[in-house]
Order: sequence, then C-alpha cells, then structure tokens
Amino acid sequence: MRGIREAVRGVVLAALCCAIIASTVACRDDSGPIRPIAGGDPARGATLIKAFGCGTCHDIPGIDGAVGLVGPPLVHFARHSYIAGELPNTGDNLIRWIRSPRAVEPGTAMPDLGVGESDARNMAAYLYTLR
Ligand code: HEC
Repeated sequence: MRGIREAVRGVVLAALCCAIIASTVACRDDSGPIRPIAGGDPARGATLIKAFGCGTCHDIPGIDGAVGLVGPPLVHFARHSYIAGELPNTGDNLIRWIRSPRAVEPGTAMPDLGVGESDARNMAAYLYTLR
C-alpha cells in the first residue's frame, strides 16, 4: 500500500512540474516587441544610434563598437521599468529622454545631442528590441 501511495505521489509531482514548465515556456513569448513604438523603424534606429555615437557612452547589444562605460548599459532595455531612474519607461518618455535628457534631468552627464523627433522614435524602436 505504502509503495503505491509513494508512486502515485511521484506521478502527481511529476505532472505538476511538467505543467509549471510548460506554462512558463508558453508565457514567454519572444515574438514581438514588449513596448511597440508606432512608426518606429528599429533597423533605421540601429544605424542612427551608431551615427550619433551613443555607443561611446553606452554598452548597446547589436551595435558595432558600442561598448561605452560612461552611461548605464542598455542591455535588456525593453524590460527596464524606468528611464534614468526618473521617467516610467514608455515610448513617449524614451523619445523625450533621447531628444533632451537635460530637460528631464538637469546636470545629467548625457548631453542633448540635437536628435530630431523621428530619429529619436527610430532609436527608441531599436532600444525596445533589447529584451
Ligand atoms: C556623453 C555620454 C553619453 C552619450 C553620448 C549618450 N548617453 Fe545616454 N546616458 C548617459 C548617462 C550618463 C546616462 C545616465 C543618466 C542618468 O541616469 O542620469 C544615460 C542614460 C541613457 C538612457 C537611460 C538608461 C537607463 O538605464 O535608464 C538611455 C535610454 C540613453 N541614455 C540612450 C542614449 C542614446 C539613444 C544616445 C544617443 C543618441 C545616448 N544615450 C548618448 C550618457 C550618454
């Protein structure tokens, strides 16, 4: 009797583990952006990030030579809750930050680089591919 009860418990436990693993895998959907940006082109954004030299200060996955250590690494940026610890991480706020960080946080080491709205939108779209 005891043996059978142990065996049943084993099977139930195994089934439970399988269910948990299966639901974790199913919930992890890597197919789309976490925070989509309307009208943003991530490929164009990557080119712009390189052209504006963001990588002199930031470590940015997928951008050639972007290994800077002045600012925080932008690894997993789409999953961050805040931008510079100041603004909730939404598309509009990210565009605002990229265009004029010093209006958001006077005295920040990140300079206003004169990025236009549509360029900032494309860069934001790229940063949101960093999951
Ligand atoms: C001269 C160095 C420098 C350059 C160039 C620079 N940044 Fe930054 N950046 C920083 C610093 C420093 C911070 C941290 C600001 C803070 O927290 O006050 C920062 C913060 C950020 C953040 C928020 C990061 C976080 O973890 O919350 C983003 C996003 C960002 N920068 C994107 C860019 C983009 C895009 C460019 C290019 C257009 C760029 N940066 C160019 C220095 C720089």
